Amino acid sequence: MNTRVLTGITTTGTPHLGNYVGAIRPAVEASRRDDVEAFFFLADYHALIKSDDAARIERSRLEIAATWLAAGLDPQRVTFYRQSDIPEIPELTWFLTCIASKGMLNRAHAYKAAVDKNAAAGEDADAGITAGLYMYPVLMAADILAFDANQVPVGRDQIQHIEMARDLGQRFNHLHGHEFFVLPEALIEEQVATLPGLDGRKMSKSYDNTIPLFAGGTKQLREAIMRIVTDSRAPGEPKDPDSSALFTIFRAFAGEAETAAFRQALLGGIGWGEAKQALYERIEADVAPMRERYEALMADPAAIEATLHQGAQKARAIATPKLAALREVLGLRAMTTAPVHGGHAQAAAKAERAPRFASFRDDDGRFRFRLFSADGEELLLSKPFADPKAAGALQKRLRSLGAAAAVLQLQAQGMSLELDGEAVASTPDYRDEQARDAALAQLRVALDQLAAQA
Ligand code: TRP
Repeated sequence: MNTRVLTGITTTGTPHLGNYVGAIRPAVEASRRDDVEAFFFLADYHALIKSDDAARIERSRLEIAATWLAAGLDPQRVTFYRQSDIPEIPELTWFLTCIASKGMLNRAHAYKAAVDKNAAAGEDADAGITAGLYMYPVLMAADILAFDANQVPVGRDQIQHIEMARDLGQRFNHLHGHEFFVLPEALIEEQVATLPGLDGRKMSKSYDNTIPLFAGGTKQLREAIMRIVTDSRAPGEPKDPDSSALFTIFRAFAGEAETAAFRQALLGGIGWGEAKQALYERIEADVAPMRERYEALMADPAAIEATLHQGAQKARAIATPKLAALREVLGLRAMTTAPVHGGHAQAAAKAERAPRFASFRDDDGRFRFRLFSADGEELLLSKPFADPKAAGALQKRLRSLGAAAAVLQLQAQGMSLELDGEAVASTPDYRDEQARDAALAQLRVALDQLAAQA
């Protein structure tokens, strides 16, 4: 089966070179693999948590969509959509909110960091903190669980969120007695380069040290590269490639031979100005054709809108039936039939999961019953009784017996269960010892489950 890979991009910024190398390029490459079914979306509801600047969010959504498409994402092949086009996501967010433990959310890194900052400033713990920030992990869990994603490529800072999504999925599955959600795993790409920024620290919007990918065209790309901090070695003096941000960025774009040549040039004393020009030309060779597509896309937002709409349709083809099934499970079904006994779908689901007896009449008119496991596996067949009350009495004894008190005799191919020295029921015949041992274990579980209910 294909692996379903899903990731979201918060739409608050303009993509830079670090985003391209660290996230966009590897994701587009992975999306071309035949064994991967890729889902990428613009996390614009998450953007609302971080920013109330509507113009910025609007611009960022367009820029990010155009960037991913220009970088080679094929919307026919992958499912590329906008979070705010999928009403099932906020709906699922609420369902998950109702089972999320508040204590778990208290421990979320982003929320805790905000609380710690308030404490350090001598403020009230929750000063200036929105419920949106607090609920961030639940919205993210809904993004992931709504589509049964197997793998979620994220940065290290997001691992905790994926664990919370697993936790919520597991909790729901457990509460409702069925595997409703696939439990996702974080995919951390160890190979992928983290680019240094202009000042040598990790390239990040929050350090204000980024090199734009497309914005401002080739001119701004060149200007930014010329501002990368270097040491003060003059032309002719050897430079250390391994401590140079310039070299690290070069390597993220160039092949092995080119990289080796650049290393030699630095060791050989190339001037920093010349080295920067070489870096600019190397990046420009990759970026220029993508930039051309980017500019064409930015000039035609309606085409991007149409692409995202199609993506939303593909995404909703999965999410709509999934949410409909969840509504049923939660008791939010249409009122066309009388509620199941006790009025609780949940109780019904649990009852179905318990071991059960099924009584029947033999061909010769005598009364027998079978015991089935919670999973519907046949465990025991009773001996025949002329009197149905005697069969009922045996069921009653089996209900309170418990595995520890059960006496089981091995037969050639199965087992018999004895009470007071008499065989009263037998298991089906088994293929081999392994099958018999598995059946024995199941029978013990079932007897204990019955005893626990009695
Ligand atoms: N929180 C993620 C980030 O800041 C973005 C995101 C939102 C996301 N929903 C997601 C990532 C679901 C993966 C899956 O990077």
